[in-house]
Amino acid sequence: MSIIYNEQLKVFKLDTPNSTYAFKISPMGFLLHLYYGAYVPDADLDYLRQYIRASTTSALTAHEDVEGYMSLDTARLEYPCEGAGDMRISALSIRGKSGCNATDIRYKSHKIYKGKPGIKGLPATYVNTDDEADTLEVVCTDCLTGAEVTLVYTAFNNLDAITRSVRVKNTSDSAFEIERIHSTTVDLPDMDFEMLHLQGRWAKERTLVKRHLEFGLQGIHSKRGTSSHHNNPFVALARDGYTEESGEVYGFSLVYSSNFAVEIEVDFFRTSRVLMGINPETFGWHLEPGEEFSSPEVVMVYSNGGVGAMSRTYHKLYRYNLCRGDWKCAKRPIIINNWEATYCDFNDDKLVAIAEEAAKLGIEMLVMDDGWFGTRNTDDCALGDWYVNENKLRGGIKSLVDRVNAVGLKFGIWFEPEMICPDSQLYRDHPDWCLKVEGREMSIGRSQYVLDMTRQDVRDNIFEQMCKVLGSANIEYVKWDFNRNLTEVGSALLPPERQKEVFHRYVLGVYELMERLINKFPHLLLENCAGGGGRFDPGMLYYSPQIWTSDDTDAMERLEIQYGTSIVYPPSAMSAHVSASPNHQTGRETPFKTRGDVAMSGSFGYELDLTKLTDEERALVREQVAAYHKYYDVIQNGDYYRLINPTESKGTMISASAWESVSQDKNEVLLTYVVIRTAVAVSRYIRLCGLDPEKIYVDTETGREYSGALLMNAGLNLGIAGANGGKWSDGESRVWHFIAK
Ligand code: GLA
Repeated sequence: MSIIYNEQLKVFKLDTPNSTYAFKISPMGFLLHLYYGAYVPDADLDYLRQYIRASTTSALTAHEDVEGYMSLDTARLEYPCEGAGDMRISALSIRGKSGCNATDIRYKSHKIYKGKPGIKGLPATYVNTDDEADTLEVVCTDCLTGAEVTLVYTAFNNLDAITRSVRVKNTSDSAFEIERIHSTTVDLPDMDFEMLHLQGRWAKERTLVKRHLEFGLQGIHSKRGTSSHHNNPFVALARDGYTEESGEVYGFSLVYSSNFAVEIEVDFFRTSRVLMGINPETFGWHLEPGEEFSSPEVVMVYSNGGVGAMSRTYHKLYRYNLCRGDWKCAKRPIIINNWEATYCDFNDDKLVAIAEEAAKLGIEMLVMDDGWFGTRNTDDCALGDWYVNENKLRGGIKSLVDRVNAVGLKFGIWFEPEMICPDSQLYRDHPDWCLKVEGREMSIGRSQYVLDMTRQDVRDNIFEQMCKVLGSANIEYVKWDFNRNLTEVGSALLPPERQKEVFHRYVLGVYELMERLINKFPHLLLENCAGGGGRFDPGMLYYSPQIWTSDDTDAMERLEIQYGTSIVYPPSAMSAHVSASPNHQTGRETPFKTRGDVAMSGSFGYELDLTKLTDEERALVREQVAAYHKYYDVIQNGDYYRLINPTESKGTMISASAWESVSQDKNEVLLTYVVIRTAVAVSRYIRLCGLDPEKIYVDTETGREYSGALLMNAGLNLGIAGANGGKWSDGESRVWHFIAK
C-alpha cells in the first residue's frame, strides 16, 4: 500500500517512488497539510504542522484548538474554506439557505483501497490494473449546510504522480450553491519558487514562460469556454536553483477542457498556497438535496530531476493512464491532410489525385478537411449541415472513400460538431439551439455561433448526423475541430439560478458526445483540434490520443510551440505536419528536410499539395517516410529530453533548438538539432542526457564511437559538425542516431 493512515498520530501518508505527501486530522477535525516533497521514510510527520499564533482575533476565537492557539489563518490547510477563519484564497465556498458563505468542513471518516475510481461524466486518469495505484477518500462535513465533501487522492506506485479531485453531496433538506470548488490545493512552506506556465495565442500556443513568486496573488486562467490557446491548464513551481535536469519541481495539470484557474497566494508567513480547478469567476452550481457534484481531477507530479523528469512522468502517465482505445499505443498512420493544399476549394478528383501521389510516397491516410458538407465553399457558412456536398464530391462520400481506399490509403474526415453558422439549414430550422442571452446581441466569431451543448436534443441531432456520415463509408479517423470561444453564455432550457452552470454543463455535454462517438465507432482515431491547439489539454486526450498542435505549421515557429507542449504532453499527442514553403502563416522559407525533422517529433504527417512537389522533394518525402518507420519506436516509446530551449536561445551566438529521445533500455538515441539563426566562427557543444555512461554508442551514419560518459559530459562538437565544415545556415537541421554496442 502506498497510502497509510497512522491512527495514533492521525496522519495520512501517501508515497510514490520518489515523493511523499502527508496531512493530518487536528483534534478539532480540521485537515492540516504537513508535507509534499521528496520521499521520506519516517512515519512521524506530525511535528511539521504549522501552528502559529495569529494576531487576527476573529480567527483565534473562532478556532481555538485544544493544543493551544491554532489559527486557521496561519495554519497550512489541506482544503481551505471560505469565511470561517482563514482569510487567504479558498478552495471551497458554499452558500447555504442563510445566504451566507461561511463554510467549515471537519473530518468525518475515510477509506483507503487499491486502484482508482473514475469521475462520473468527466475525463480522468485511470489504472490498467488495481496494483498501479492506491486511493484515499476523506469525507468531511459542514454541519450547517449539510455539505458532505469527499477529498479523493490517488497515489501511483510506479510514477511520481498523485491525483486529487473533490465531490460535494447535499445531505441536507434544502438546496445550496457551490460558488467555488477547486480540485487541489497545496500550502507549500515557503515562496522560493519560479512559476512556470504555458502561455500563448492563436498560432503561437504554449510558449514556456517563467516568473518568480511574489507576495500576494498571482495566477493564470481561462474564461473562453476552452482551456485556451492563451493559458494551458498547467503550472509548475520550480524551487530556486532548479535546471532542466535537476532540482525540485512540482507540476499541476488539470484534466479539464473548459474555464480553469490557477490561483497562487503568498501570505505574510511566506507560505505559498496553490489552488487549481474550475474558474470560480464563471462558475456556480445549484445542488438540490441528495444531489452530488464532482470536480475535475488535478494531476500533481513531483520531480527531483528538474523540469525534464516532471515532463517524462506526465508523458508516461498521459500516454498509458489517460489516453484510451485502439490507438493509445498503436502506431499512427502517416497522414496527408488537404487543408493547406486546397482549403475549401476541392472536389473528389482533386482529393483522389492527392491520394494517388501519397500512396506512391508511402503516406498512409488521406484526411479530408473542412469544406465537404452542406454549401460550404468558403469558411463562412453551413456549419451544422453535416451531409455531403455532392456537387463537390460527385458520387457521394462512399464513392470517394472507396476510390481512396482503392489506391491504398485509409480515409479520415473533418467535423466541427459544436458550431453552427447563421447561414446554415440547421440555424434556419433551430435558431434557438445556440448559446445566447435573451435580448442581447450574439457575438459572431469566424462567421459562426456556438451550439448549446448542454442540451440533449442538440447533442442527439449532431450525433445522428455524424453517425450517418461515419456509418456510410469506411472512415477511420475524425478531426474534431472547434474554432471560436464561447460568449453570451446562456442556455434557453435552464432557469435563471442555473445559468452559472452553463460553462461546465457545456463541457460535460461535449465529453458525453465524444464518449458516445468513440463507443459507437471504437476503432476510430479521433484527433482533436481547436483553431489549432486551443484545447490541447489532458481532458481532450482522454477521448483523442492526438491533438492538432497549432495552426502555425512553420517549422521554426513549431520549435517553440512543440518545446512548450512537450513540457506536459508526450510526442504521440502532438500532431505535426510538413507544410509548404514559403509557409502559409509566416511566409518563411525553410528547407524540406528541416520541416520533416521538426514534424517527426510528433504524430507525423503532411499538409501540402503532393501533386505539386518536385522530384527532389518527392525523394525527400520517401526518405522521411522511411525515417518515420525507422525511428518510430525510439521517438514514441522513448524518454524525451529537451536540450536547447529555442526561446531562451534567441539572442545568443547561434540560436537553435535541440531535443533527444532515448529508448527505455538506453540502447538507442535520436538527437535532433535545428538552427534558427546562424552566426560565424562559433563553437558549440551539445551535451546529451539520459544515456548509460558505461555504454559505447555508435553513430550509425559515420560509425564513430563515443562512450555515454563522453556524450553526456563533453558532448558533440557542432563547430565541426555542420554541413560545410562547421558552417550552419538558417533553418538547417541535423539528426544523429546512435546505437549502443
Ligand atoms: C481550423 C483548424 C485547421 C483547419 C481549419 C478548417 O483552423 O485548426 O487545421 O481544419 O480550421 O477550417
